[in-house]
Amino acid sequence: MNDNRERLRIAVQKSGRLAELSLGLLRRAGLVFRASRDRLFLYGENLPVDVLLVRDDDIPGLLLEGSCELGIVGRNVLDEQRLADPNASASAELQALGFGACRLAIAIPDASTITTIADLAGLRIATSYPAQLAGWLRAQGVDAEIVVLNGSVEIAPRLGKADAICDLVSSGATLAANQLRELVTVMQSEAVLASSPHTHNAATMAQIERLCMRIGSALSGEGVRLLLLQAPRTALPAITRLLPARELPSVLSLDGRPDDIALQALCNHALDWQQLEDLKRLGAHSLMVLNVERMLA
Ligand code: PRP
Ligand code: ZN
Repeated sequence: MNDNRERLRIAVQKSGRLAELSLGLLRRAGLVFRASRDRLFLYGENLPVDVLLVRDDDIPGLLLEGSCELGIVGRNVLDEQRLADPNASASAELQALGFGACRLAIAIPDASTITTIADLAGLRIATSYPAQLAGWLRAQGVDAEIVVLNGSVEIAPRLGKADAICDLVSSGATLAANQLRELVTVMQSEAVLASSPHTHNAATMAQIERLCMRIGSALSGEGVRLLLLQAPRTALPAITRLLPARELPSVLSLDGRPDDIALQALCNHALDWQQLEDLKRLGAHSLMVLNVERMLA
């Protein structure tokens, strides 16, 4: 943490694709927050960890200047910073978060006559990701003009400011709403947890590590179910083969019933009725599927 700050700060997108999912993940990792009056700062009530709600494109800068120790941001936003300023100390990607999958893509107006990458030569492409676009154009051997915009890139063609755009696409709704269609993908991206290059102090590192462990557990516990059943011991091999289990199940002996076992297995997703019926056919009974509230490996 900053010398004069006792609490960890995480920068999170304030509105947009990653906003709700990022806060949801932090809540599942056990953080409880109280919002400030302007709702741009969330005070961590049960841990010394606060959240700063900002524009996603500002997150790499906040990490670089050390105003925040951690950030949840699209990988491509981090890459943009790294490419734009290769000599600056870079933020580290601590872990991929499994949500916010999207692609940086070039899109053109529905009515455009452009059909190939080569057709982009000599045209103006509006983007908030100039370094990535420049690198891609260079690799493609296409000479186009890059128009840097910090927001509302999708309306640039309609305003006559550009012939094409290079922006993030997830569901495609933004493109459709602006009568644009995708021409080509420049890169794939997803949300990642990133850390500031200025975080060295041991106490801070320990806190970050603790939070990462919690986030990792929340991620790996997602969708996990616990299956409980009893069965004749002889049915165990056949039952084990049917289980969508993450790891070997625990098998327990039952008092006074040497021929039977009880089994518990962590499964990656809910078991459907068909799977339960198949297990029952093999001799299993007293089947139960439970939601897993928390896991700590
Ligand atoms: C990106 C992009 C589009 C939207 C695309 O915004 O700029 O606005 O996502 O998503 P869709 O294909 O599902 O419609 P981002 O979340 O980065 O927010 P920002 O533009 O405010 O930075
Ligand atoms: Zn953005």
